[in-house]
Amino acid sequence: MPIIWRPQLTTGDERLDQDHKYLFAIFNCVELALSAPDQMKHLPLFFGQLFEYTEEHFLREEKLQVSIGYPGYLAHKMAHQEILERLKEVNDHLQKIATTHGGLNDPELVRGGLDQEVLNLARGWIVGHIAKMDTAMLSYLKPQHTGPKLKS
Ligand SMILES: [Fe+2]
Ligand SMILES: [Fe+2]
Repeated sequence: MPIIWRPQLTTGDERLDQDHKYLFAIFNCVELALSAPDQMKHLPLFFGQLFEYTEEHFLREEKLQVSIGYPGYLAHKMAHQEILERLKEVNDHLQKIATTHGGLNDPELVRGGLDQEVLNLARGWIVGHIAKMDTAMLSYLKPQHTGPKLKS
């Protein structure tokens, strides 16, 4: 089932939200490739792009957090590192299969590098992080003005 971005996932920063939407789009490509045997050969490429864009996005997000003095920065950065390590492990395995002679034409071999179970885990790492930790930035990125505006 494709991941679909929803307004509850907003972070308060448009660029970050765009990144998240794009990450979901790449993720959906990975899942589609996994479900179609004739597309299986594209898995290492798509997953590689998911890994690289996640890394790029995390850096952008951390930079923004530093610039606003976000109090959850350190814990957030650690969570990013943990996700990256897990994604890297899967990606390294897949890229190794991609460079094995004939590996890409052997669906069973590719599936050994990334099956639906592993992909479901990756979905949880990415979506879970955005839903829990990224949305926590909302009140810092978009301060809520609840009181009346005072006249100066
Ligand atoms: Fe994050
Ligand atoms: Fe994020």
